[in-house]
Amino acid sequence: MLTETFTLSNGNEIPKIGFGTWKLHAAAAKEKVLEAIEVGYRHIDTAQAYGNEEAVGEAIKASKISRDDLFITTKLAAEIKDYAGAVQAIDDSLKKIKLESLDLMLIHSPKPWAYFQEEDHYFEGNCAAWQALEEAYEAGKIRAIGVSNFEIIDLENLLQHCKIKPMVNQVLAHIGQTLVEVIDYSQKNGLLVEAYSPIAHGAMLNSKTITTLAQKYQVSIPQLAIRYCLQLDLLPLPKTGNKKHMENNADVDFTISERDMLKLKGVVSDFDYGKDNDTPVFRKVLGK
Ligand SMILES: NC(=O)c1ccc[n+]([C@@H]2O[C@H](COP(=O)([O-])OP(=O)(O)OC[C@H]3O[C@@H](n4cnc5c(N)ncnc54)[C@H](OP(=O)(O)O)[C@@H]3O)[C@@H](O)[C@H]2O)c1
Repeated sequence: MLTETFTLSNGNEIPKIGFGTWKLHAAAAKEKVLEAIEVGYRHIDTAQAYGNEEAVGEAIKASKISRDDLFITTKLAAEIKDYAGAVQAIDDSLKKIKLESLDLMLIHSPKPWAYFQEEDHYFEGNCAAWQALEEAYEAGKIRAIGVSNFEIIDLENLLQHCKIKPMVNQVLAHIGQTLVEVIDYSQKNGLLVEAYSPIAHGAMLNSKTITTLAQKYQVSIPQLAIRYCLQLDLLPLPKTGNKKHMENNADVDFTISERDMLKLKGVVSDFDYGKDNDTPVFRKVLGK
């Protein structure tokens, strides 16, 4: 499964499962990304906000895998909503990762994290940041560009004003929390939707309903969760610091029946994201 790809609207191939790196700091990030590459992952998801772009770059170098065989995503910090700041930040990411080009760069969020629950959608600021991404794309510094956490209203703004259409929308998506409307809108407009926190940040691991179905397919809950995303044409980005789990998450060559997909779509999320409940994206779905 790690060698299979989706095709982006610009024709570029993107490996169907990405390796998430949120919360992997410095030395651990280098070690875990390197392990993931050894297991066979070729798609790594980092962000300026994770503070591990350098470590990801070091892992890439240490892996000795050809640059063309890897797909590296980073994200423009959510707080940057001006053209000059975005131009600078794009170059900073390239320097930190020590690559001549990135495969994908996303606007991390339409709103700065501190204002994530507020009404202001930063329409002008997102267009300004987007222009910087478009120019970096045209200059060959980034091979694909997209967004993350964009709602329909944010996408409409960008689609109305942009020169180059976004190719990806990375959103929170897991069993019990599938944002059908934004996923449909994105897919209808030619964006590939990536599913972040596909295992509900670990919160899904104790769910009884999901355990029953995972047992039926003789797979782990994370495997079921990852396969669920793939069957919705979502690109899952599981994160783990455990090599066995890396292998387990890549071993998803089975099919969930249509009936069971319906059951999983109907799961009502009662997940608790634990100590990260206060993270803006989780706070929002928890209605806090
Ligand atoms: N764009 C955004 O705003 C945004 C927001 C959140 C996340 N993301 C991206 O999405 C990635 C994934 O999301 P996430 O980090 O929130 O969490 P996740 O991938 O949904 O879940 C990670 C948790 O699941 C556990 N786990 C993973 N595989 C397992 C397995 N096979 N068996 C048992 N436990 C397993 C991990 O523990 P172990 O380490 O012990 O395996 C960890 O506690 C992030 O790293 C990041 O790249 C993006």
